[in-house]
Amino acid sequence: MQPPLDRLLRSALRAFAPYKPGTSVDEVRRRFGIDRPVKLSQNENPLGSSPRAMAALRELENLSAYVEDDHLALRERLAAPYGLGVESVVLGHGSNELVQLLFHAFVDPGDEVVMGKPTFSLFRKDTDVAGGHAVEVPLHDGVHDLDAMLAAVTERTKLVFVCDPNNPTGTRVERGALFAFARALPAHVLLVLDQAYREFMDADGTDGVEVLRERATTVVLRTASKIYGLAALRFGYGYGSPDIIATLNRVRLPFNVAGPAAAAVLAALDDDDFIARSIESNERGKAQLYAAFERLGVHAFPTAANFIAVATPIPAQTAYEALLERGVIVRSGDGLGLPGYLRVTVGTHAENESFLAAFASLLERWRAQPVEAAL
Ligand SMILES: Cc1ncc(COP(=O)(O)O)c(C=O)c1O
Repeated sequence: MQPPLDRLLRSALRAFAPYKPGTSVDEVRRRFGIDRPVKLSQNENPLGSSPRAMAALRELENLSAYVEDDHLALRERLAAPYGLGVESVVLGHGSNELVQLLFHAFVDPGDEVVMGKPTFSLFRKDTDVAGGHAVEVPLHDGVHDLDAMLAAVTERTKLVFVCDPNNPTGTRVERGALFAFARALPAHVLLVLDQAYREFMDADGTDGVEVLRERATTVVLRTASKIYGLAALRFGYGYGSPDIIATLNRVRLPFNVAGPAAAAVLAALDDDDFIARSIESNERGKAQLYAAFERLGVHAFPTAANFIAVATPIPAQTAYEALLERGVIVRSGDGLGLPGYLRVTVGTHAENESFLAAFASLLERWRAQPVEAAL
């Protein structure tokens, strides 16, 4: 007989809601018989993967050997642009794993973790799994309220997450405000800057490593999933002081980064052409989407990333479902702590057009007759 799960479960997990990923392409195919849905829900690179990375993968002949666990060449390559040493770089199975390692290393049950609301859902999830206490500080006009976050720090605070640019709003914090915040944070707190979308920021955006140089108790997280188009490989990396990086390395699994991922990322880092094309495409897509949002009279947060949070007068879940039926997958803000908004990845010109055409026709119908049945 199975014992009651409640008795087995750690107490921190009894009221725990699992992470809900967005609707998959396969599900839309099955449910609506749509062959090629447009997927603008996971902030992936619409141009695909770095060609240099793909070429490196094709060159692999053998996967029988374990990788060299320290990935020296790759860590050197990641450290070099900043003049840092390899001991300042940690690698992860996606930057998601690095978030988890921060909890393994630093958060005891009852410890407090300060974060924005809404922000990347994983911060809250990992806090709950660790038995920590999430202190969620509402955004101000869609941007991290750094003064309020500072005021929320106590003796029990271990980690403070600033997601810059923030998911799901796409907004970034002002550079001066971020430095002032970093300087004002008490010394016992570890500041975590999640910069998964850093490469899409304009010149005024902050490079978290500059913050790290001023405040050593800081970790900066980056990923190969977005700008290099390598989400399926699961590769993230982090910068920090050598003692913090050594601690993260102590708690991670051996061989946490797969050999093919390391080979592909090493090649992608020098794929300047793909990086430039990805940024240009994102800029063009943003202009296309913002122009349409203005025509449609809907508010959209200013994004520093590769996605936009756009307001919908139609309840977000209703709009999301109606878009799905038309073969366009976005995220409903309802599930992301941003009710009244949709989060839309900036796609190719054609993908953006498909989304805009479907969204505009929904809005038109709703404005003529605002009942769900009309959609
Ligand atoms: C803020 C933020 N951090 C991290 C990630 C995921 O990174 P990775 O694929 O490296 O685990 C995402 C992906 O959506 C994200 O939005």
